[in-house]
Amino acid sequence: MIYTVTLNPTLDITYVLEEISYDESVKALEVVKTPGGKGVNVSRVLKAMGTDSVTMALIGGFAGAEALDLLHREGLILQIVRIEANTRTNVIVLGRRNGLELVIRAAGPPVEDREIDRISDLIMQTTRVPEMIVLSGSLPRGVDNDAYYRLAMEGKSRGAKVILDSGGKPLRAGIKAAPLLIKPNLAELEELAGCELEGRRQILDFCGDLLSGGIEIVVVSLGREGAMLVTGDVALKGTVPFIDDDTVGAGDSMVAGMVMGLTRSLPMEEVFHMGLACSVATVINTGPGLTTRETYAEAFPQIGIEQISMV
Ligand SMILES: Nc1ncnc2c1ncn2[C@@H]1O[C@H](COP(=O)(O)OP(=O)(O)OP(=O)(O)O)[C@@H](O)[C@H]1O
Ligand SMILES: [Mg+2]
Repeated sequence: MIYTVTLNPTLDITYVLEEISYDESVKALEVVKTPGGKGVNVSRVLKAMGTDSVTMALIGGFAGAEALDLLHREGLILQIVRIEANTRTNVIVLGRRNGLELVIRAAGPPVEDREIDRISDLIMQTTRVPEMIVLSGSLPRGVDNDAYYRLAMEGKSRGAKVILDSGGKPLRAGIKAAPLLIKPNLAELEELAGCELEGRRQILDFCGDLLSGGIEIVVVSLGREGAMLVTGDVALKGTVPFIDDDTVGAGDSMVAGMVMGLTRSLPMEEVFHMGLACSVATVINTGPGLTTRETYAEAFPQIGIEQISMV
């Protein structure tokens, strides 16, 4: 079974207005609530593509209870750890006529290390063998930077392959557990390198350093420029069609696509192709939705993959 972990989920509340205007009391045309979170998104894309996964998440308070109810209704398989504090709510205001969008992100609730330990317990006690564990997103406030490192080590002790998609200090600590795959974007990779990486050569060289630390696959996503995948045997560059700038969830979808390929033990080029196609499929899907089978089928033939020289 595939397990995704979301330590910092959200309840997103979208108010749709006719038009955003200031100093006025305005009526919402529609109010939509959707739970968010990177691991949750990975599970959503897997589900849309017909692959089961278990979504593990930290959930707290009334906002958390509402998010949980909505996740249940989506049909996700959930394993929840209740936390003391309230799950964060983000507020999004959309102006229908002028197309403006205001996104207000709240800080996540403080989480205690003992609450993370309960996620560890879940990982150590899964009834189904954890084939793969996907650790995605930032860490909650109050949690040690090595939380992903610890969860990764525990997952590996149970024979799971670990995918880590995070940035900053949690990524820096997490790579010491030698995950199977990491998927930084360029900014996250540069932060890890401690310098700017210009051009393919420098990116490849730094990916090589990461591989020597025990990671097997490094995928660097480059937004509309596609992505690079580097292993000990192969280096690939993927190109994507430009769709538009609404790319929310593209990175998470890419992770989901690669998880599907890896659990089927497909060749690396196919794994990469599936990741790219899922990410583009999410960009094609206008609105808040992610990959669907239809947008995946549309995206798949538009992906280009070439081998690049590692020397
Ligand atoms: N404008 C775009 N058009 C087409 N495809 C895109 C576009 N932006 C991103 N993608 C696809 O999505 C992948 C992931 O995007 P990106 O590099 O922005 O990830 P990310 O920064 O991790 O995103 P996230 O915010 O979801 O974490 C890219 O490698 C590419 O395949
Ligand atoms: Mg990302």
